[in-house]
Amino acid sequence: MAVEEMEQLVLGLGDQLRWAADVEAPAPIEVPGGLLIVGMGGSGISGDLVSVLASVPVTVHKGYGLPAWVSNRPPAMIALSYSGNTEETLSAVEEARDLGLTPGVVTAGGALGEVAVGNGWPHIIVPGGLQPRAALGYMMGSLLRLVEDSVDLKPGDFSAAADLVDQLTGGLGRDLAADLAAGLRDRIPVIYGTNGLTSPVAQRWKTQINENAKWPAWWNTMPELDHNEIVSWTSLSTLTRRHVGIIALRDDSESSRVEARYNLTARLTGSDVAWVGEVWAQGVSRLERILSLCAMGDLVSLELARAGSIDPMAVPEIETLKQLLAEEPL
Ligand code: PA5
Repeated sequence: MAVEEMEQLVLGLGDQLRWAADVEAPAPIEVPGGLLIVGMGGSGISGDLVSVLASVPVTVHKGYGLPAWVSNRPPAMIALSYSGNTEETLSAVEEARDLGLTPGVVTAGGALGEVAVGNGWPHIIVPGGLQPRAALGYMMGSLLRLVEDSVDLKPGDFSAAADLVDQLTGGLGRDLAADLAAGLRDRIPVIYGTNGLTSPVAQRWKTQINENAKWPAWWNTMPELDHNEIVSWTSLSTLTRRHVGIIALRDDSESSRVEARYNLTARLTGSDVAWVGEVWAQGVSRLERILSLCAMGDLVSLELARAGSIDPMAVPEIETLKQLLAEEPL
């Protein structure tokens, strides 16, 4: 039953994007220099995804406070927190306020919503009541609206992306997701993306598999992984040959050098892992291609949850940790 509940939310990704495309938004935030996006986990990932669509330099900060350079070169800033109560994000916002910055905010409410409304900061309040990772369309779509002058988006990209993810989650992606999940069954997934486009999607796959399927997973980036991880598959190959599956997230826009690297890396390391698969981005715009791969990752994470009879909705350790931290001295 719980898998079906999360499945309904994955099916809603397209409608969440449509909501964000139509929501009344403040004037786009001006980004004369760089853009700093702060946010953790299922909220912060929207910053990573938007960073590869941006036409300005973007830093995504995931931690307490602000990076040291901010006080010297104050950037435009946006804080993302679905709950609005994530302590790292709130601490970044507090420091920003002390520095006289005016952060934009995307949230469903909480303390962050209150501070944004109270200070008159540019903000979009998204519908509440979901798990943050199931609100990707609301969070990422709203973030795009707040910076729409600084991203590579054309009219119609939002609706084309929404239609494409509807097709994939509604049926067209199901068989491929089931095949990929079968390749990963009883294995630890390692997801590869490419620098500048699909790396943040690889991270999203990893965290969706972690949280929805309660399954360990890791991710890495091409070409950086060819300078380190490529040598790592030999010493424990009796283990990795049985228990590691690699999935590469591919895109037609990859350079021929990156394409050659994927082929050569598979040739050199493929026999030391149990299984290697790949998924190609679909669609025309960068937004469509990124979101088509996100949708596939969501479906694969649900297939893994189903296979293990796991409830994808519950994340008890995250919630318990937050409660225990609240009891710790500041
Ligand atoms: O998926 C989750 O529940 C987490 O990764 C949260 O997104 C993370 O803990 C941050 O919370 P929030 O997204 O509410 O800021």
